[in-house]
Amino acid sequence: MKLLLLGNGGREHALAWKIAQSPKIEKLFIAPGNAGTALTGENVAIKADDFDAIGKFVKEKDIDMVVVGPEAPLVKGIYDYFKNDPQLNKIPVIGPSAQGAVLEGSKDFAKAFMQRHQIPTAAYRTFTAETLEEGEKFLETLSAPYVLKADGLCAGKGVLILNTLEEAKHELKEMLSGMFGNASASVVIEEFLSGIECSVFVLTDGKNYKILPEAKDYKRIGEHDTGLNTGGMGSVSPVPFATKEWMQKVEERIIKPTVDGLAAEGIDYKGFIFFGLINVDGNPMVIEYNVRMGDPETETVMLRIKSDLVELFEATANGTLNEAQLEIDERSAVCVMLVSGGYPEAYEKGYPIYGLDKIENSIVFHAGTTNKDGQIITDGGRVIAVSSYGANKEEALKNSFQEAQKINFEKKYFRSDIGSDL
Ligand code: AMP
Ligand code: GLY
Repeated sequence: MKLLLLGNGGREHALAWKIAQSPKIEKLFIAPGNAGTALTGENVAIKADDFDAIGKFVKEKDIDMVVVGPEAPLVKGIYDYFKNDPQLNKIPVIGPSAQGAVLEGSKDFAKAFMQRHQIPTAAYRTFTAETLEEGEKFLETLSAPYVLKADGLCAGKGVLILNTLEEAKHELKEMLSGMFGNASASVVIEEFLSGIECSVFVLTDGKNYKILPEAKDYKRIGEHDTGLNTGGMGSVSPVPFATKEWMQKVEERIIKPTVDGLAAEGIDYKGFIFFGLINVDGNPMVIEYNVRMGDPETETVMLRIKSDLVELFEATANGTLNEAQLEIDERSAVCVMLVSGGYPEAYEKGYPIYGLDKIENSIVFHAGTTNKDGQIITDGGRVIAVSSYGANKEEALKNSFQEAQKINFEKKYFRSDIGSDL
């Protein structure tokens, strides 16, 4: 089959790497891709949210399936775009309908959905500029720290955690007066939860689901979880505290009611669900939903899936995931992200990347790279994900850290404490 994958990050290179291993794949296209995806398939210069250009390309090339990496095209309605075009509506799109993507596109919708289906999450209320005073009063009923979330998509920047009531009131006002544009026209204020986070992923066909390997992501730029939030500096899978017993709670209390809830509400959903969970005294609670895979979690999760991912996608599209097989690799997988100096604040790009050909014990996924006249250069904050297997996490980390030393570019930075807290 001919498959088109949308996106251009490390997540998409990892997906492309796994998809390309399927004997079912005759041709893999990635739009727009990066210098890494060009090694596993053919890049196409189309933006992931340019639906008209994507539709035209799919018709021209007789594409059999579209897999969506990032959230933006999903929230914008790529699934529905295909459904509504008579020439495209037989082509499966792996990713939810726009209605399903609201689970990520609106924090308020996600919280109300969880409440409707008794899914454990922090207590909350939502406020707008009209109800600012009530929002301030609500903050007074909570204790520090205070969690404020812009309702809409903010590229991972829309959550503020404040230590004092005064700061919280100030930021609430700022958010409601346009700090994140329209995305913060509504703000969710919620109870602070304390615990370790874990990302759990499922692939669902709308009624059945398969639970993929879980992973832990390292969001802060600095060692020992200090400094600013990033897109993610590394990941580890499996997660030691995600025991069989804990995962059973996740399935019963969170996964099943979510999938059943989507079905009960008539929401068309054939794709990944990413449950951002927090372990509160042994009990999983939902911090957020995403409607796509995580990045850099995908760079470890893909290593641990033994089954043919394309077969799983076909079963997703056909509604037969209950009959599909998902075999998991028992080994550990880790990912260490090499980033541009300065990231997540201002950074420079365009630096040549050396040493990629010296890698022996890791799998290198490109996150922000491009090819300039045959030379691979840096093209983003997160540049290269160094992913490795190991009999255990320590062995996998040793491989990634060793190989991370061989790859060089100006102002390269990575966290050397990935996995050390587990
Ligand atoms: P989100 O975009 O909803 O995932 O939030 C970003 C980050 O903020 C999460 O990964 C958590 O580390 C933190 N966070 C969000 N909500 C809460 C909460 N209710 N309690 C504690 N931390 C939270
Ligand atoms: N690693 C977190 C995310 O992809 O949102």
